[in-house]
Amino acid sequence: MDGLADQIDAAVAAINSATGGVTAKVGVILGSGLGALAERIDDAVALPYADLPHFPRSTAAGHAGRLMVGALRGTDRQVVALQGRFHLYEGWSAQQAAFPVWVMKRIGVETLVVSNAAGGLNPSYAVGDVMLIDDHINFMFQNPLTGVNDESLGPRFPDMSAPYDRGLLELAESVARRDRFFCPRGVYVGMLGPTYETRAEYRMARRLGGDAAGMSTVPEVIAAQHCGLKTLGLSTITNACSPDQLGETTHEEVVKAAASAGEKLRAIVEAVVVSTG
Ligand code: 6GU
Repeated sequence: MDGLADQIDAAVAAINSATGGVTAKVGVILGSGLGALAERIDDAVALPYADLPHFPRSTAAGHAGRLMVGALRGTDRQVVALQGRFHLYEGWSAQQAAFPVWVMKRIGVETLVVSNAAGGLNPSYAVGDVMLIDDHINFMFQNPLTGVNDESLGPRFPDMSAPYDRGLLELAESVARRDRFFCPRGVYVGMLGPTYETRAEYRMARRLGGDAAGMSTVPEVIAAQHCGLKTLGLSTITNACSPDQLGETTHEEVVKAAASAGEKLRAIVEAVVVSTG
């Protein structure tokens, strides 16, 4: 079987031949309900994951499953966007979930914006808020870097003391100040899923320092840190998970609430793209 670097090369070759080459410096991973940003990519070349070698197929509802390359409206700059991502709860390995990140690095991306829908553990958060991921806890107990390490991609033992770029956090905060919305920094707890948490699990995650809980992002951010991408993580709070007043959580409600934060995310992503090369 091909090694990881060969798989990445094959996917990159397919993307380059379909697009005629990519100049994007920013890559964006669009999470549940956040796909609307893809509609703002003009003259997009859209490549279904099924057409890209070694890409897993997206199965989650609300995830279209394609890679798009085009100009982000209002910025005059090219971006690469992943509409639909791969979750461990679908049965993909952490390495498969993170695969597109290494591909983005190899086509020249320098900055990665990762978005997701998450449950709010911090009682000061409301549905529709955007939390800037300041740090994370890997509660998935899987890591995309287990197995043989290819030194040409990144180091065996990557530092994780600051996977979320400070300058990008400050830039996002300046957008929130300008546009007057609440945009706190917080700790994202990555859970395996696909079940939402029990009340005892919410209580645990909160006590351990979590502000929001979700089922994605951590494998991608680990890969981004491994290969040296500057990363900004954005969590849309889609439901409140205070353990003492927990209602039912449904996927439909999560997707709907995620869409309500679309404008804030758009403003932040635009600022990142404009500030990057
Ligand atoms: Cl409450 N938990 C998890 N694990 N993922 C979520 C969520 C909650 N809300 C949206 N995604």
